[in-house]
Amino acid sequence: MLVVDDVHVRFGDVVAVDGVSLDLAPGEILGLVGDSGCGKTTLARVIVGLERPERGRVILNGEDLLQLRGARRRSVRRRVQLVFQDPESCLSPRLTIGQTLEEPLRVAGWRDRRERVARVEQLLELVGLPSALAARRPRALSGGQRQRIGIARALASAPDVLVCDEPVSSLDASVRAQVMNVLLDLREELGLSVLLIAHDHALVHQACDRVLAMRTGALQPG
Ligand SMILES: Nc1ncnc2c1ncn2[C@@H]1O[C@H](COP(=O)(O)OP(=O)(O)O)[C@@H](O)[C@H]1O
Ligand SMILES: [Mg+2]
Repeated sequence: MLVVDDVHVRFGDVVAVDGVSLDLAPGEILGLVGDSGCGKTTLARVIVGLERPERGRVILNGEDLLQLRGARRRSVRRRVQLVFQDPESCLSPRLTIGQTLEEPLRVAGWRDRRERVARVEQLLELVGLPSALAARRPRALSGGQRQRIGIARALASAPDVLVCDEPVSSLDASVRAQVMNVLLDLREELGLSVLLIAHDHALVHQACDRVLAMRTGALQPG
């Protein structure tokens, strides 16, 4: 499904990612753990196309995402989505949740407002939230609800792969399990592949089919 091949990223003198290769099977939840600063977020951003690597390939269903251009690039890119560590990065305080979730649909060419509203309802249902939340603004939501909106937004374009960058690390311990369960249910319900980046080893080992460990830019053997 997704193959990352020998990705290198440097920022000036800092080598953030130093030759990482991994692969993700359909419906698999792959864990990626590692200390702060070892390059996890940079790798995630390369995979979803927010960062260009110095070298390497990111292949989705046989197509190298880094080689694609124009409309084809945009359409393939939609199939790999990022859930940010901090849900605030995809929420605007001035927009309602419904407006926030409609935006990626509009970008993807959903012209009919009623269809967008129906899809928003469906997205909220997928992450276990009541459709009434569409009319609310982010400040009326709890941290766990906001991160569920972050997940719903990533799901809007019906991706095959979700890259989740420490999706529960900003949350209270009490709601972490709930949000993790949302991700696990999505794998069951939609057959999604998930790259789950985390700090908390226990949580990842519980949730994932396989776990890779990263250290200063590279995967550790074994
Ligand atoms: N935009 C950037 N500019 C310069 N250095 C960066 C940038 N993003 C990340 N880094 C550096 O790259 C390394 C890896 O960072 P990051 O990918 O955020 O690690 P992690 O997510 O594992 O904490 C760190 O040394 C960080 O300071
Ligand atoms: Mg990070």
